[in-house]
Amino acid sequence: MRYKSQAVAYWYFAVAMVLFGLQLVFGLLSATKYLGPDPLLYVLPFDVTKVIHTNLLIVWVLTGFMGATYWLVPDESRTELHSVKLAYIQLILWTLMGVTAVVGYLFRYGTGNKLLEQPLPHKIVIVICMLIFLYNIGMTIKKSGRFTTTEGVLVLGLVSTAVLFFPALLEYKNYTVSIFYRWWTIHLWVEGVWMMIMGSFLAYLLIRLSGADREVMEKWLYVIVGLVFLAGIVGTAHHYYWVGVPYYWLPIGGFFSALEPLAIIGMAMYAYGAMRRSGLSHPNNLALHWTLGSAIFTLFGAGLLGLAHTWPSVNKWTHGTLVTAMHGHAAFYGAYAMIVLAMIAYALPSLTHSRKDHNPAIGYWAFWLQLGGMFGMTISFATAGIGQVYLERIMGMGYLDAQLKIQVHFIMLIASASMFSLGAGLFIFDFFRRRPRFEVTETDALGNDVNDPVIVTERRL
Ligand code: HEM
Ligand code: HEM
Ligand SMILES: [Fe+2]
Repeated sequence: MRYKSQAVAYWYFAVAMVLFGLQLVFGLLSATKYLGPDPLLYVLPFDVTKVIHTNLLIVWVLTGFMGATYWLVPDESRTELHSVKLAYIQLILWTLMGVTAVVGYLFRYGTGNKLLEQPLPHKIVIVICMLIFLYNIGMTIKKSGRFTTTEGVLVLGLVSTAVLFFPALLEYKNYTVSIFYRWWTIHLWVEGVWMMIMGSFLAYLLIRLSGADREVMEKWLYVIVGLVFLAGIVGTAHHYYWVGVPYYWLPIGGFFSALEPLAIIGMAMYAYGAMRRSGLSHPNNLALHWTLGSAIFTLFGAGLLGLAHTWPSVNKWTHGTLVTAMHGHAAFYGAYAMIVLAMIAYALPSLTHSRKDHNPAIGYWAFWLQLGGMFGMTISFATAGIGQVYLERIMGMGYLDAQLKIQVHFIMLIASASMFSLGAGLFIFDFFRRRPRFEVTETDALGNDVNDPVIVTERRL
C-alpha cells in the first residue's frame, strides 16, 4: 500500500464480501423453489428471494467498485484521498441503505420495478452516497493535479452511473413507458458505462500485473470505450422488441446490439495479448487468474451468450425465459463480479498480513470452483431454458406443466451452484482469515511492495 488512505478500500471490500455470501444464500433458496414443495411459500416466496438475490448482487458489486476506486485513485494520482472520514460516512450510509432495503423486501416494501425495486427513500440515499463518493474522488484528483487516462475512463463511468440512475427515481403509471425508461438505467449500466468501469480496472491491473506499456494499454482503452458507446447506446433497443413501442426498434436493436460483442472481443484480446507478452511472471499469480478470467468469461457470458438471444427472431421465443437467466448469470459474473474479485485479489496482500503466501492453495480452489460452478450453472439454465422455450412457447404447454418436465436441469443447477458457493465461500474465508495491516510501504514503478519477501525472493531467483 503506497498511501495510508487506501486502507478505506479494505472495509468496502469486507462489506462486499458479506453481501456476496448473502446473495448466494438467496440464490440457492430461489433455485430450490423450482423443485418444490416449498415449506417457506408463505414466509419467503420466490418473488421475495429473487428480489433480494438480485438486489444484493447490485449492491455488493457497486460496493466493490467503490472500494476498488478508493484503492486505485490514490495510486494513479499519487496522493492521499481527499477525505477518509467522508469515505467511511459514505460506507456506513450505503450499508445501512442496503441492509434496510433487504429487510423491507421481506415485507414487500419496494417499487416492483425489476432490479430497481428500492423504495424512494432508499433511492435518495443512493444518490447522496454517489454524490459524496464522486465529490471525494473528484477532490482527490483535483488536489493532486495528476489525472491518467485509466482514471479518466473510470471517473466517466462512475459519473455516468450516477446520472443514469435518475430515470429510476421516477415512477410512471403506463407500463410501456416505465419499461422504456427502466432500460436507460439497467441496460446502459451493464452494457455501457459499467463496461468503462470494468475496462479501466482491467487496464490498471494489466499495467501493474503484466508490466504492459501504459500508452499502448490506454490507447486500447479508448478504442473499447468508443465501441461500447457506438453499439451499447443504440443497442438498448434490443429490450424494445415486445414492450409496446413501434416496430422500427426491432431492426435497430438487432443490428446495433449484435455489434456489442466486438468491444468485448477487443477487451479479451487486449488482456490476453498483454499477459502473453509478460509471460505471466508477476508474483501475485492469483490476481492474474482473476484478471484474465474476467476478460475471458465476459466474452463467453456477455459476448457469446448475449449474441445468442439478441436477434429479434430468436428473442421472440426466448424473451423472459430461463435463457435470459443463463446469460444474466454468466455475463454479470464474468464482467462485474470477477473484476471486483480481481481488484480484491490484487490489493489484498498489501492490505493484510499475508506476506509469505501470495498464492495460497485455497485461493486457486476458490477460483476454479467458482469458475467450474458458474459454467455448470450457465449450462443448467441454458438447457432448462431451451426445454422451456420448446415446450411452452412452441408446443403450447402450460407454464407449470413445462416446469415439471425440466426439473432435472434444476437439480443440475443446484449441484453446480453448490460447487460455486463452495468456491465463493473459500474466497470469503480467505479474505477474512487474514488480519488487516494498514502500513504504508515503499513500492517500485509498478506499485509492487519492494519489501515484500515474496517479491524479494522472486528477484533473487
Ligand atoms: C457485461 C455485460 C452484460 C451484462 C452484465 C448483461 C446482463 C443482463 C441481464 C441481467 C439481463 C436480464 C435483465 C432483465 O430482464 O431485467 C440481460 C438481458 C439481455 N441481454 Fe444482457 N448483459 C450484458 C451484455 C449483453 C450483450 C453484449 C448482449 C448482446 C449481444 C446482451 C443481450 C441481452 C438481451 C437480448 C437481453 C434480453 C433478454 C430477454 O429478452 O429476456 N447482453 N442482460
Ligand atoms: C449459489 C449461486 C446462485 C444460485 C443458486 C442462483 C440462482 C438464481 C435463480 C434461481 C434466479 C431466478 C431465475 C428466474 O427468474 O427464474 C436467479 C436470478 C439471477 N441471478 Fe442468480 N444465482 C446464484 C448466483 C448468482 C451470481 C454469482 C450472480 C452474478 C454475479 C447471479 C446473478 C443473477 C441475476 C442477474 C439474476 C436475474 C436474472 C433474470 O432476471 O433473468 N446469481 N439466480
Ligand atoms: Fe441489454
